[in-house]
Amino acid sequence: MYDIPFLDLPALDGAQGEVTLPGSKSISNRVLLLSALCEGTTVIHDLLDSDDTRVMLQALRQLGCEVQALGATVSVTGLGGRAWPTQAIEFFMGNAGTAMRPLTAALAVQGGDFTLKGVPRMHERPIGDLVDALRELGCHIDYLGNPGYPPLRVGQPQLKLEQAIPVRGDVSSQFLTALLMALPLAAAQRPITIEVVGELISKPYIEITLNLLSRFGIVVERQGWQRFVIPAGSRYQSPGSIHVEADASSASYFIALGAIAQGKGIRIHGVGADSIQGDIRFVQAAERMGAQITSGPNWLDIRRGAWPLKALDLDCNHIPDAAMTLAVMALYADGPTTLRNIASWRVKETDRIAAMATEARKLGAQVEEGSDWLRVHPLPAGQWRAARIHTYDDHRVAMCFSLAAFNPDQVPVRIEDPKCVAKTFPNYFETLWSTAHARASAIPVLCIDGPTASGKGTLASLVAQHLGYHYLDSGALYRLTGLVARRAQLPLEPGHAQAIASLVAQMPLRFDGQQIWLGDEEVSAIIRSESAGMDASQVSAFPEVRAALLDVQQRFRRLPGLVADGRDMGTVIFPDAPLKVYLTADALERAKRRHRQLMERGIDAKINVLHADLQARDARDSQRSAAPLKPAEDALLLDNSHLGIPESVEWVLKAWQGKRPPTLV
Ligand code: DC
Repeated sequence: MYDIPFLDLPALDGAQGEVTLPGSKSISNRVLLLSALCEGTTVIHDLLDSDDTRVMLQALRQLGCEVQALGATVSVTGLGGRAWPTQAIEFFMGNAGTAMRPLTAALAVQGGDFTLKGVPRMHERPIGDLVDALRELGCHIDYLGNPGYPPLRVGQPQLKLEQAIPVRGDVSSQFLTALLMALPLAAAQRPITIEVVGELISKPYIEITLNLLSRFGIVVERQGWQRFVIPAGSRYQSPGSIHVEADASSASYFIALGAIAQGKGIRIHGVGADSIQGDIRFVQAAERMGAQITSGPNWLDIRRGAWPLKALDLDCNHIPDAAMTLAVMALYADGPTTLRNIASWRVKETDRIAAMATEARKLGAQVEEGSDWLRVHPLPAGQWRAARIHTYDDHRVAMCFSLAAFNPDQVPVRIEDPKCVAKTFPNYFETLWSTAHARASAIPVLCIDGPTASGKGTLASLVAQHLGYHYLDSGALYRLTGLVARRAQLPLEPGHAQAIASLVAQMPLRFDGQQIWLGDEEVSAIIRSESAGMDASQVSAFPEVRAALLDVQQRFRRLPGLVADGRDMGTVIFPDAPLKVYLTADALERAKRRHRQLMERGIDAKINVLHADLQARDARDSQRSAAPLKPAEDALLLDNSHLGIPESVEWVLKAWQGKRPPTLV
């Protein structure tokens, strides 16, 4: 979903409800690798399904692990006790640091002929300190590009395990995690000691690693945060089945939502007070900013407390990822908020300090930054600007800035490349829409009205796809009405209009992409027939039917927006729509298009008959007294007799851009 250039978030004014969040990325990828290294099968429940876990799963398959997926449950049969592959393998790791680092270590300790590559950004993310530690240990690793960065080639090691293995702790804790997960492979005969050089950052992620290792039978002796000893005789043992808790970093956006938005509160399922994830301590930071939070073992309830939020000065080393969310909450605070000790932000998916500062400034905020800190000043009412947020292929930048849509100035926020959220939270925006609220008038509707066979259905659904908006084919509702009336054996005559209208109100209809369902029956094809079109034209002339369908149609106006096509979208159903297009083409041209369509479906038809039919339908649709077909006064006219579909789509999108605040364009 959302493989679109941008997603415009309308101004939001409240939020409430319950959300279930996807599994933790850090736990998912660690559990996958540990399951691959142990003997036997591990059934993993609630595994995150995202770009990063897909990368890891693919790598495990390439190594020869059996992987079976059944919904959110994945079973992995490990390589423990089996032969490792001897053939050369090339792994593509995308931009998944949580897959790249530990896999490199495991492959290097075990040995083979392996190449590890990623997207260009992955080739800019440092891995030198891990490689140094692995080389110290006797692993054979070559750089295939710039020294210190992927891509890498791994060969056969000659392990030297007598001495403590030094690893830097102050660049990324993932290096230590990688060693901790890989070295039990070599600890059958002797204990192995790892020594951290420099101050260890992101300790909570090491806690996750140690916790999960113990679930897989490896009990590491920790001496402060400086020395870690893997005891001799360590062997990975599958726990049989394991449950992945919801991602605490993903929870930060909904905790912030509860703290910022007016409403009855947000309940988060899947993660709570018993979490092993360090980012759960975001809860305390949010409380300090004013959120009211209660929790159980695996749930959180959040409500808005202090408002404006209270400014904060915080060392964020313990919540490196979730702390980004604080930077956006800071826009709603009562003074400047300073986030300290965040140097690791500079080597993540993008330079996150620079990214957060640049994008917050686009909204109008004053932001200062240093090598390892960020200060965000609140943005008072009257000073917010509609902004295009660049997301740098960084899921967290996209999710953080969605919270700017609650601004008091009710300006929309454009999120570029919204699908980048798929890294950890593929349905983030749908989850946001399921709780967020906007005034109906703030939810944009694009109306495309016009006569039959003008191509408005194709045009409207393509425009909807391009904008990530919902799509309403209102003609289908009249076609369904005709079908339901026929099946109830009601004559399509004015005397039965009230009875037909009563049926309409109870139609169990459901739109699912291109499919239209009536209860359990898919009726998309049935209602597309010419006779169904004629029936629709008749029932649509009854004011009672139109009145019954009014509310049904208006309910399609949902976040983040709607493209609606029909005859009276702009005149009657959504008179306040910001863009109305009246689409026409001359009748003969439309008859030819309809003819082509029918022929493609194997239905024989004559152009002159279709031409006459179209003219009759146009006459009835425009002469009826109830909502006759006519352009809204403020509609833009588009005659597409000589335009192709892509040109028409472009025309509408351009017209839409013209209606947006200038800073969005
Ligand atoms: O667009 P269509 O051919 O699927 O529409 C079928 C009939 O429904 C058409 O003859 C007119 C009627 N209609 C209407 O009156 N108002 C709408 N908003 C949409 C369709």
